[in-house]
Amino acid sequence: MSNSKAAARRLSLVVALVAGTAGIIGLPVTVGKTAAYADAAPDNRTVILLNAAERNYVLENMREHLGDVQGVIEALAAGDSAAALRSATALGTLANKQNTKRPAGMVTKFSKEFMTATQEFHKEFDGIADGMAHGDTATQSLRRVADAMRSCVACHASYQIEVSRP
Ligand code: HEC
Repeated sequence: MSNSKAAARRLSLVVALVAGTAGIIGLPVTVGKTAAYADAAPDNRTVILLNAAERNYVLENMREHLGDVQGVIEALAAGDSAAALRSATALGTLANKQNTKRPAGMVTKFSKEFMTATQEFHKEFDGIADGMAHGDTATQSLRRVADAMRSCVACHASYQIEVSRP
């Protein structure tokens, strides 16, 4: 047997041992099964068809939203109203318009309903930032953030992105 074949055999033996042991002690063994599970559980949310670059952009943007919401909450908890205002503003309409990374033509692929949901979501954070600038207490701001985050929840419950095949 050649060295590389022997190495490959040893490797597959190790993989089998690890997977087997994990199975015996009750750890989930999911190697290679993800796709099968995805097929078995239909995702009935409305599909937004984007190319790979557009999808990456949207998901990156979403992760930034999550970071900004985290920033608002942390700043409110720490009594840092300037930082809270900065993070809330980053979630607003103007920041969204000024985002220069958005792939050209992408929004033409969004339905009217999805566009409206996006705009409403940014407007809610405009309102939160405005309230912060005009004397809302931390508790009031938190209340409004909790309400605005219903838009995150509702949109995720309704839409999914799929990559269009070229
Ligand atoms: C108008 C619709 C809409 C709104 C509002 C929205 N999202 Fe999303 N978000 C999406 C879609 C669509 C996806 C992709 C879901 C999929 O394909 O399964 C997504 C994905 C995400 C992801 C996953 C990112 C990744 O890398 O996989 C995060 C995190 C996220 N959103 C955070 C947020 C947060 C936080 C808010 C609110 C502050 C928010 N989103 C508001 C539509 C929305």
